[in-house]
Amino acid sequence: MKIGKIIFGAMLIASAATVSMAAEPEAIFKRCVVCHGKSAEKVPPGGVIVSATLSADEIKKSLKLYKSDKEHGGKMKVSMQTQVKNLSDEDIDAVADYIFKNFHIAK
Ligand code: HEC
Repeated sequence: MKIGKIIFGAMLIASAATVSMAAEPEAIFKRCVVCHGKSAEKVPPGGVIVSATLSADEIKKSLKLYKSDKEHGGKMKVSMQTQVKNLSDEDIDAVADYIFKNFHIAK
């Protein structure tokens, strides 16, 4: 049963990937608190938006743009470029979901 072996192998790889990918959003979010507040409820210094009012997708999109597009953002964009530089896309997705799930404020 060659197919069976291939599927089993793929399942092993998939489960190993899940474990090694495990970003810890709570630990990542601790780095954001100093500027965004402990519940992402503050306007960061020089910023204009309260991150807690954004959807998870808006946070992900914004963070990925700070990473990929040097022109993205307002006058304090460099603060955020420094923050996201060392985050993987998985980290960004995890921390955005974490913020949305725990702290979302309806606009
Ligand atoms: C040194 C202070 C600082 C830290 C630390 C920081 N931010 Fe920011 N953040 C800012 C500033 C200032 C802006 C507005 C930047 C601009 O002018 O584009 C901003 C913008 C953002 C935005 C865009 C929308 C908004 O809320 O203004 C998101 C989303 C965001 N930050 C999330 C995070 C996350 C997640 C972390 C932690 C990984 C983080 N920030 C860490 C200062 C900070």
